[in-house]
Amino acid sequence: MKTPMKVAVTGAAGQIGYSLLFRIAAGDMLGEDQPIDLCMLERDNEASIKAARGVMMELDDCAFPLLNKVCSTSDPSECFRDADIAMLVGARPRTADMQRADLLAANAQIFVQQGRAINNVAKPDIKVLVVGNPCNTNAYIARKCAPNINPKNFTAMMRLDHNRTLTQVAQKINCKVTDIEGLCVWGNHGGTMFPDLTHSTVKGKPVMTMIDKTWYLSDLVPTVAGRGGAIIKARGHSSAASAANAAIDHIRSWIKGSNDQIVTMAVPSDGSYGIPEGLTFGFPVVCKDGDYEIVKGLEIDDFHKEFFAKNIKALEEEKAIVDEIIAKS
Ligand code: NAD
Ligand code: LMR
Repeated sequence: MKTPMKVAVTGAAGQIGYSLLFRIAAGDMLGEDQPIDLCMLERDNEASIKAARGVMMELDDCAFPLLNKVCSTSDPSECFRDADIAMLVGARPRTADMQRADLLAANAQIFVQQGRAINNVAKPDIKVLVVGNPCNTNAYIARKCAPNINPKNFTAMMRLDHNRTLTQVAQKINCKVTDIEGLCVWGNHGGTMFPDLTHSTVKGKPVMTMIDKTWYLSDLVPTVAGRGGAIIKARGHSSAASAANAAIDHIRSWIKGSNDQIVTMAVPSDGSYGIPEGLTFGFPVVCKDGDYEIVKGLEIDDFHKEFFAKNIKALEEEKAIVDEIIAKS
């Protein structure tokens, strides 16, 4: 039997937490041969602690063979101590009248505190996925507050946007999602993100020869960028099961590899494609041997460059706000 991996999940009593924890414990994320120590973090108030305890009781009641240990705490140091993986979900979701960036003020402090705790107590090679919005900038905050950890290991979730694009394209051209290769979603998980089909193929055939450009630009791009808002309007709550599923996909690809396939991860820019170094930006990546690499050398036309500029602007504005918050904290 393998040594258990410790997975820390914040926001355990929330909507996403409820869809996520049981799948992790069932082995969907790390595989059927990987025992798991699961540690859940919730806010330090009676209702949250009580709700997390209820989730823990249900995890017990599933008798998951892979679940070696479960704990629930409101102390970040206890949650992240010796953790191999941290999934930072706990944060306020937006309501229908808000943009994701409007959450910065409400959520930034969470990631200052958790970044510092990760810095002090987690395994030095911990892999961090930030889900709580605005996730790119929250990942930036946590990274800045954790100077002892490899900056590359602070990532944010744009796999949901990737998965959304896969299904939209598969439905449009009537193929399976698994037939589609090479797509990615560039930028910020916000209104400016850009699903890119220009390098994508279906069974070797370029997707751009199978769709018309008007559908691509006037339908697909806004549908993907606006999907989170459309779900909030429809459900009255933000996406939860699909977000949990994407979080599992993100970590599974990172740890177990993406089988030479391109997937989307928001990661600290290394300056590729002219994206300023250090911004947490959605890139096409390939994962192998527990690591990811940004796919280099894709041709970028002027049209893409305009979208890149919008995303850079959005992220730099958020960065300016949180740099001040970090400095004052
Ligand atoms: P939710 O309100 O149902 O749950 C959030 C939970 O986090 C609550 O139980 C709350 O008590 C807890 N929490 C708040 N502050 C905490 C802290 N400091 N430590 C630990 N726990 C804390 O929200 P949700 O629907 O689960 O969404 C969570 C976040 O994920 C939101 O910010 C949402 O916008 C974001 N989200 C991101 C994506 C994405 O693609 N990146 C997709 C969906 C949702
Ligand atoms: C999503 O894309 O579903 C999430 O980021 C939730 C939101 O606020 O849109």
